[in-house]
Amino acid sequence: MTRDEILYWLKEEDEQRLKELWRQADTVRHENVGDEVHLRGLIEISNYCVRECGYCGIRVDNKEIGRYRMTEDEIMECVHEAVQYGYGAVVLQSGEDYGIKTRWLADLVRKIKSETEMAVTLSLGERPDEDLVAWREAGANRYLLRFETSDRELYERIHPSLPGKRSDRFAILRRLKELGYEAGSGVMIGIPGQTYASLTQDIDTFRELDLDMIGVGPYIPHPSTPLGQLNDEQLAPDGEQVPNTEAMTYKVIALTRIVCPEANIPSTTALATLNLAAGRELGLSRGANIVMPNLTPPKYRVMYEIYPAKACISETANDCRYCMHRRILSIGREVGSGQGGRRKRQN
Ligand code: 5AD
Ligand code: FES
Repeated sequence: MTRDEILYWLKEEDEQRLKELWRQADTVRHENVGDEVHLRGLIEISNYCVRECGYCGIRVDNKEIGRYRMTEDEIMECVHEAVQYGYGAVVLQSGEDYGIKTRWLADLVRKIKSETEMAVTLSLGERPDEDLVAWREAGANRYLLRFETSDRELYERIHPSLPGKRSDRFAILRRLKELGYEAGSGVMIGIPGQTYASLTQDIDTFRELDLDMIGVGPYIPHPSTPLGQLNDEQLAPDGEQVPNTEAMTYKVIALTRIVCPEANIPSTTALATLNLAAGRELGLSRGANIVMPNLTPPKYRVMYEIYPAKACISETANDCRYCMHRRILSIGREVGSGQGGRRKRQN
C-alpha cells in the first residue's frame, strides 16, 4: 500500500467503502497470524516517573496522585496468577522510574523465567543501554516503547527531553532489536497538532522499522496535564487535525495490519475506553490479534491513571480474564496458547 493510499483511507468517511478496508485487514490478519487471540497479562509495577510528557497523567509534576512501586512478592503473585490463567506472556510496565534498579529488575526477570514458561515483556521507558543489556541477559524477551508520533517537532512539544539527553526512541528501538528483543512501538491517535500527513508517516514508519508489536490507541485528554488543558488554538489547521475518535483508531489498526502483516497488534484499553461495549471486539475484527488483560492489583490500578476513565479500572484480574475470553469467543476467534511471539514468514 502506498503512502497516498494510506492517506486516502485515513480521510475516508463513507461507511460502505470503509467495509472494504475492514475486510482487507481481517483477511491479512487471518492469513498471517491466524485466528488465535493471544493474552498478555499486564502488570503496572510502578507509577513513579521522572518524565514530563504533556499528555500523561503519571508525569512527575502531577502531585494529585498517590505513588506506588510494587514489591517483588506482589509482582510474583500476579505472575503466578498469569500462569494459572494460561497467559503466555506478562508485560511489566511502569513510568520511567529509576527507583526500579537495574539489578533488582534483572533478578526479577530471572525469577519469572525460572519459575514459569512465560515470555517477559518490559515497558519501562527510555532506560540507559546498560539496563537494556542487563535485562536481556536476564532473559527478558520483548520491549515496548511507543514513539508516539514521527513528527519531531510535535514530539518535542509533548515529550520534553531530560536535561542534556535528547530523547531518541528510534535509536532505542534499533538497539533493542540488535540486542535480540522483539521490539514493540506505536503511536497515539489524535494528539492536538497531529496532522493526517504525520499520521501517514507514522504508519509508514511502522513498516520501515519492521516492528514485532505495534500498539495504537486514541489520545485521551487528562485534565491534570498541560496537553489536557489546551484550547483549540493548539489544534492543526482545519481539515488537517486528526480526530482522536474510535473510527480513526480502527482505520489506523486496519492500515497497520495491512502494512505490517506479521506484527502482533493489540486491541488496546484506550480503544475500549471509548467504546466499552464493543471496542475490543471491533479492534480484533479490523486487524488486531492481541488483548492485554490487567493483572495489577485493583488498589494500585486506580493510581495508574495515564488517562482518565480508563476501561476496566475496577475489575479483578479474574473478571478481566473471563471478560476477555467471552469477547474473543463471541466473535468466532480462539484463545491463544503459548507465548504467541512474532511469527516470521519463511522465505
Ligand atoms: N491518552 C492515550 N494514551 C496515552 N498514553 C499516555 N498518555 C495517554 C493519554 N492521555 C499512552 C502512550 C504511552 C502508553 C503507555 O500510553 O502512548 O506510550
Ligand atoms: Fe476489561 Fe472486560 S474488557 S474486564
